[in-house]
Amino acid sequence: TLLTLAMILIAYLAGSISSAVLVCRLRGLPDPRNEGSGNPGATNVLRIGGASAAATVLLFDMLKGAIPTYIAFRLGVDAVPLGIIAISACLGHIFPIFFKFKGGKGVATAFGAMAPIGADLSLALMVTWIILVIICRYSSLAAIITAFLAPLYTWYFDDRFTIPVAMLSMLIVIRHRENIARLLKGEESKVSRKKKEKA
Ligand code: G3P
Repeated sequence: TLLTLAMILIAYLAGSISSAVLVCRLRGLPDPRNEGSGNPGATNVLRIGGASAAATVLLFDMLKGAIPTYIAFRLGVDAVPLGIIAISACLGHIFPIFFKFKGGKGVATAFGAMAPIGADLSLALMVTWIILVIICRYSSLAAIITAFLAPLYTWYFDDRFTIPVAMLSMLIVIRHRENIARLLKGEESKVSRKKKEKA
């Protein structure tokens, strides 16, 4: 329907707003596309600017996934078109029209976009990711494993969304191919507090 098409477009445009680039610009930090992993996402902003900048990026990247899907959900859009709207928000984040189509990896945006499915699923995914980061210290590996588990969790909590979530997961895993290569070579950088340089 027209509503679904409009929401797909709105989700793509919202997804295209790169919180990482904007937050770094506002805070006078280096551009995340040229620094660290080169990825405009919360993980890389954590490397460059520390926890509060990263938390801001995480929040806004989640919201741009959550808001369009939540609105569509409230307007009564069905599971499959809702999934397409969620994927569209992530595609906006990954291929942003406002930033020369060079975006991030879609983890936070996908997480936000899955929120309308239910708080139980969101909580399960968040706890899984956090535990994995604590264990392995790799944000990327935690995201990849959580992405593999997400369709399974979704099947358990609300089977109507299993296929759309599986598609989101696929997108995220493919987008992490450089991270996978780095992990295999033992060159991936670990999550750690930004240490103050000693003079
Ligand atoms: O959210 C992206 C994260 O999984 C990896 O980011 O900067 O380590 O490539 P990065």
